[in-house]
Amino acid sequence: MASEFAVECRSVSKVFPARRKHQRTVTAVHDISLSIRHGEFFTLLGASGCGKTTSLRLIAGFEQPSSGEILLHGNPITHTPPHKRPVNTVFQNYALFPHMTVAQNVAFGLTVRHIPRAERDKRVQEALELVRLPDAAHARPGELSGGMQQRIALARALVNRPAVLLLDEPLSALDLKLRQAMRGELKNLQEQVSITFIYVTHDQEEALAMSDRIAVMNGGHVEQVAEPAAIYNRPANRFVADFIGETNFLRGEIALREDNRVQLRLAEQMMWAAADDTPPVGQPVTLAVRPEKVYLTRTNGGNGRATLYGTVNHIMYLGTDTRYTVRLQNGHELVALARNLNGDGPLHLGEPVHIHWHESDARVLTE
Ligand SMILES: Nc1ncnc2c1ncn2[C@@H]1O[C@H](COP(=O)(O)OP(=O)(O)OP(=O)(O)O)[C@@H](O)[C@H]1O
Ligand SMILES: [Mg+2]
Repeated sequence: MASEFAVECRSVSKVFPARRKHQRTVTAVHDISLSIRHGEFFTLLGASGCGKTTSLRLIAGFEQPSSGEILLHGNPITHTPPHKRPVNTVFQNYALFPHMTVAQNVAFGLTVRHIPRAERDKRVQEALELVRLPDAAHARPGELSGGMQQRIALARALVNRPAVLLLDEPLSALDLKLRQAMRGELKNLQEQVSITFIYVTHDQEEALAMSDRIAVMNGGHVEQVAEPAAIYNRPANRFVADFIGETNFLRGEIALREDNRVQLRLAEQMMWAAADDTPPVGQPVTLAVRPEKVYLTRTNGGNGRATLYGTVNHIMYLGTDTRYTVRLQNGHELVALARNLNGDGPLHLGEPVHIHWHESDARVLTE
């Protein structure tokens, strides 16, 4: 039966037994549910040890879930062995065979499947052209740069025309410049072949730059699944807000509720903020606001927007931006990132300032 989704994980958990006596079992993946669409560039993002590789290994079939179900194109594959799944994996360390030529490496999956020579050669050449290394066929992996080897590893996976390609931190062995260049290339490649990519990284920039959707993982759990802009602008909770980019967190309490907005008592002052589901009056909450959404002015703009007051406590010049740390009246600190345009001119250390933000740029978090 055709399904809207390429891959589905339904309440999948993976518990590893204790390695030694007196050690505890490890729940590497805890009750995750994901629905990944056909042709989607889907990223699992999270810190080391949060269960990203385990999730990929479950989808590839190298691990069996302790509970839950995995479906491919709507069909349960939980008990299908890895080589029978239309899924290929690209690893961080390329894992190329050093004694074989590039062409033999790329052809490997086809050779194993006894694809006739003529077709094999044609597909190998196509795959090499796809990763923009059409002339590399006769080289040995050791003669190529890291970036080129990783492209060969990609070609070796793509030549099998998998329905789903799993990529486990494929760029992390490359230097920063190359990594940034490869982001664009990978994204283009994925659009060209329209294969579903499930991409694993701990690098938030990489995830934001390439993904159609991101699942933010933490301690084996999925914290939020959304498009990059939604993850950044509307983080579901404090963990996501803190993990992606820099965020100011201010403790406050709900003073008044209206539709889709609340008034907060914050540092002994009143501020409005947007809220999807409005918590009850009196509830302590955390307000999250990005440094680049915080405006500092010498005078109150007089446009009726509520402001907080503070004094400039620290200034860091960053070229295109200046990073101000402002101390509020209650002693808490807040960071504001200002573009260095002509405008108001740089603020000075110790100067009293008004602090503003647009209501919709401040998020109320209840956890
Ligand atoms: N075979 C195993 N046996 C026991 N524990 C394991 C096994 N594989 C993974 N784990 C544990 O499961 C947790 C998740 O590991 P996993 O490799 O999935 O994390 P990750 O997000 O890929 O981390 P990294 O970014 O460092 O690669 C870790 O605590 C790890 O020690
Ligand atoms: Mg890993």
